[in-house]
Amino acid sequence: MKENSVTIPRWFDRHLHLRSGDMLKTVLPCTLKQHATGAIIMPNLADPVTTIEKAKDYRKEIEQVMTSLRFNTNAPKGQEWYWKKDYDFVPCMTLYLTDHIDPEEVVRGFEEGVWRAVKLYMANQKGQGGTTGSAHGVKNLLGRYPVFEVMEKHKIPLLGHFEAVEEDVDEFDRESVSVDRDLKPILKSFPGLPVVFEHLTDGRAADFVAEVDHDIHATVTAHHLMINRNAMFWGGMNPGHYCKPVPKRETHRAKVRQYVTSGNRRFGAGTDSAPHDESAKSRCYGCAAGIFTAPSAVELYTMTFDQDNALEHLGPFLSENFLALYGMEVSSEMMTIERGALVVPQKVGEVQVFKGGTELLWKLVG
Ligand code: DOR
Ligand code: ZN
Repeated sequence: MKENSVTIPRWFDRHLHLRSGDMLKTVLPCTLKQHATGAIIMPNLADPVTTIEKAKDYRKEIEQVMTSLRFNTNAPKGQEWYWKKDYDFVPCMTLYLTDHIDPEEVVRGFEEGVWRAVKLYMANQKGQGGTTGSAHGVKNLLGRYPVFEVMEKHKIPLLGHFEAVEEDVDEFDRESVSVDRDLKPILKSFPGLPVVFEHLTDGRAADFVAEVDHDIHATVTAHHLMINRNAMFWGGMNPGHYCKPVPKRETHRAKVRQYVTSGNRRFGAGTDSAPHDESAKSRCYGCAAGIFTAPSAVELYTMTFDQDNALEHLGPFLSENFLALYGMEVSSEMMTIERGALVVPQKVGEVQVFKGGTELLWKLVG
């Protein structure tokens, strides 16, 4: 018999883009309303989070928005509860690794509790990164080995955007090429370095993460579990389905999904919810990469597990797997998702929502 509701510990988003300024104010309530206990906050702002001071400032900005939401008395109808609740949402900050930051500052920021992990974006020799806000990323990976050495020693997690950035690599092979060129040498040189493979999309990378003898895990987005590359082109070009890494062919999506919904503990939820104004998403050339799933992330993941008759593995994936790596505990508070129609909003502010206007079959109720 099929379950009509699932109750699991409150979840944790292991990969989230909140931006800053007005966009932060617009999108943060979406994740709060999803009952997350916290999130790993990505550092690729227009002015990236590359120092201790910047990380502290950014956290303060997020906390100020949380406070202003809590005391706002003009709650939209039906959303009053979250304005009143005393939030314990933990914004877990990350450092944007550059070619320049020295190992000592990386360790100091970690030991002072400013950041909990280091995010690796890479850029090629022309300074072109593989995704939004990655142009300041690492150009000389070998040059960063002294940083990885201290991270290994202090058990600071490396959160990697593993996609090859050289222009001649085929777009759909970027992740798998990066596994061979970038990731394998890092793991070999630093066998004790904790690594998270971010937003994994390629079946070959999934096999590697599942099998390699290393302290490695992977985040997986809701959208990469649901769509393959056809979704970018079906019925015309769909910038709303364009993100980095790009969705892959169906065999890859199915392989990744198989690891996730079969309950493999190396995989955990990280939405990579990445808001862009509609204007940036609808440029004919240079459309911004990013899919915004924050308003209904829990429901999207739940539908996926339900379709695979695997609801018993939903809790570990959303709320348990490798949380200790980030210094988080499994929450003692529970949340319930029920079978029932939920219409996804078309837009939040100027941001188009993934599957906006469609009906999902599950609803987070409290
Ligand atoms: O699609 C993406 N959007 N992938 C990333 O890696 C970055 C993100 C963003 O910041 O918009
Ligand atoms: Zn991201």
